[in-house]
Amino acid sequence: FSSFLTDNYSREHNYLRISVTERCNLRCLYCMPEEGIQLSPPEHNLTTSEIVYLSELFVKQGVNKIRLTGGEPTVRKDIVSLMQQIGQLRSHGLKELCITTNGISLHRKLDSMVESGLTGVNLSLDTLDPFQFTIMTRRNGYDAVMKSINRILEMNKVGAGIKLKINCVVMKGLNEREVIPFVELGREKDIEVRFIEYMPFDGNKWSENKMVSYDEMLALIRSKYPDVHRVQDHVNDTSKTYKVPGFAGRIGFITSMTHNFCGTCNRLRITSDGNLKVCLFGNTEVSLRDILRESNEGKPFDLEAMEALRQLESDRREGLPGSTGAFGVSERETKLLDVIG
Ligand code: GTP
Ligand code: 5AD
Ligand code: SF4
Repeated sequence: FSSFLTDNYSREHNYLRISVTERCNLRCLYCMPEEGIQLSPPEHNLTTSEIVYLSELFVKQGVNKIRLTGGEPTVRKDIVSLMQQIGQLRSHGLKELCITTNGISLHRKLDSMVESGLTGVNLSLDTLDPFQFTIMTRRNGYDAVMKSINRILEMNKVGAGIKLKINCVVMKGLNEREVIPFVELGREKDIEVRFIEYMPFDGNKWSENKMVSYDEMLALIRSKYPDVHRVQDHVNDTSKTYKVPGFAGRIGFITSMTHNFCGTCNRLRITSDGNLKVCLFGNTEVSLRDILRESNEGKPFDLEAMEALRQLESDRREGLPGSTGAFGVSERETKLLDVIG
């Protein structure tokens, strides 16, 4: 069966990202306009049982890692119950269950999530300065985010083993000067801080001169930590990992703008309204929701869904190793919104 999940470039797609909501309780400058985004009618979005059904289907096909994303996944009221149900798929081969969150309300739900099988948290935090936080997210909440981070570290001290990564989008003139303080976070703490190149997409007023490139960030870090060195990335990582000798944590770079990493991409994506897509930059999507909702009375949903996936695989990019900036800005702009953030 796992051949369904292997594409023409021998990449096995065993990592599924599910966006569980478009909504968010922050308004990060690089992501959402102040007024928020136009939301789809609620009935367009997948229900909890539909998400669980799809998760089970994909796990049975060989997916062993699921990441819940948004928007902000914790604004979904049933997030804990959803995680509990997906967590049960461990018995079918699910190994990692992760969440990408802004951490605002995570601390309230973390314990039950970990009980349900949560193994990793990617937490978006772009600044260590509470004032700058309100500028970059247009909301308050710095203390709440810190509470979430501290709770994770506390739980890890007693063996919870939650893999914590901090995602930090670096923007010129805003938080560029915080790159070094973020590296310092890893001196004592086992955290991976990943610096992300600012990417354009629908309505985020991207401009090249606000982007800080991987090369620039690395040069800045090298000037302070000359011994910083590249270490082996995990398989299929989107980030390039480095270590400062003697530090407990690591740092990483997500270089979507200057060095694409399609060649090792193993992700499948389901949007909050139930579209399956295989490539962040591809234009082809198929509505699993529609197939699912029409598939009562014994129609073989599983086969139809997998056939749709097989057809989609041809849309995935080859991503020649070492190529840079493979996609034009306008192409990115049209498609990024529902898969990141
Ligand atoms: P792990 O590898 O499991 O830690 O997750 P991740 O890094 O894929 O997920 P996360 O939600 O933390 O996303 C971090 C950044 O990677 C975001 O800025 C995403 O937009 C970006 N990203 C995730 N997947 C892709 C991808 O396939 N292509 C590109 N270009 N960017 C991606
Ligand atoms: N450029 C780069 N990263 C972004 N994210 C959201 N919008 C952008 C953007 N325009 C990041 C968030 C989050 C991750 C999933 O995507 O910071 O951590
Ligand atoms: Fe919300 Fe994440 Fe977008 Fe910030 S980056 S507005 S936290 S979805």
